[in-house]
Amino acid sequence: MRRATHLFFLGKGGVGKSTSSALASLALAEEGLDVLLVSLDPAHNQADIFETPLSDKPRSVTPHLKAIEIDQERWIKRYLKGVHDEINRNYRYLTSFNLDKYFKVMRHSPGLEEYALILAFQEIRRKYPDNDVMVFDMAPTALSLKFFNLPTLSLIWVRHLLALRRDIIEKRELITRVQLLNKEIETDKIVRRIGRSIEEYTELKELFENPDLTWINLVLNPDQLSLAESRRIVDELAAIDIGLCQILVNKTRTSSDTEGIVREFQGAPLATVPQSSTPLIGLDALRSFLAAGGFPSPDAEKLRRQSRRL
Ligand SMILES: Nc1ncnc2c1ncn2[C@@H]1O[C@H](COP(=O)(O)OP(=O)(O)O)[C@@H](O)[C@H]1O
Ligand SMILES: [Mg+2]
Repeated sequence: MRRATHLFFLGKGGVGKSTSSALASLALAEEGLDVLLVSLDPAHNQADIFETPLSDKPRSVTPHLKAIEIDQERWIKRYLKGVHDEINRNYRYLTSFNLDKYFKVMRHSPGLEEYALILAFQEIRRKYPDNDVMVFDMAPTALSLKFFNLPTLSLIWVRHLLALRRDIIEKRELITRVQLLNKEIETDKIVRRIGRSIEEYTELKELFENPDLTWINLVLNPDQLSLAESRRIVDELAAIDIGLCQILVNKTRTSSDTEGIVREFQGAPLATVPQSSTPLIGLDALRSFLAAGGFPSPDAEKLRRQSRRL
């Protein structure tokens, strides 16, 4: 078991999140760090960038680099199945309704994508713990912000649920002191289940807020639209106590490209990545771009120190 650092690449569509994730992953893997690159964007690009087939399970790209492209539909199904099984186990009296009918409708309910993404994120961390670094190529901005907001929002929900549940138990005890033994056990089970959710969301929230373990890289281009979207990302993340690790101004052509941006994001470390004259596709092209110093590699020594074996 190691203590992996999580590098996220966020930003507007087309700015270079996938390319930057690939370059950062490759640079760190070439330094000998074990890297797992995970594409959480349902519209995957990593297989095309590395010119190698990828799937929902880690595949080797180079000796120290493995990559996964998550199958969002599969994770949504898994999430729904988990909820379905849990209702069957804990709330048996509900099975007299036609649960399956509700689940067909639930498949289209808002919010499912981010729950599926969080489930995939947690399962991949649990299942493949032996990495120094995990790099996440993120989905479009709206979904990514929901992903980071999910622990905070869910904690509000489950804390209310817990209060509600305690209220119900109290009232039921007032109405009748004659408790059926198995009913009491059932009640405890639900309170315990809510307790587990609180623990899990608290752990996630602490992970996202921890600047040592969560490095948020905001990718943007020197244009008005990506700048405006980046400003919104920074504000929304700040509202849930998540800070930026680095701003990557990608596809720059002249030094004046970044002047306005430096003024805009005062305080956050900013690095530039030049527009490449050749396509950044395939290992050879990525390696020569890195060798030419085109990409600011993340601090490999710091990542190595952090990944001290547990
Ligand atoms: N520094 C760069 N120089 C040249 N082309 C780039 C650079 N960064 C990204 N690209 C190209 O821009 C396009 C979008 O990049 P991509 O990484 O797929 O963006 P995103 O994942 O943010 O949607 C791709 O064709 C990619 O090869
Ligand atoms: Mg992409």
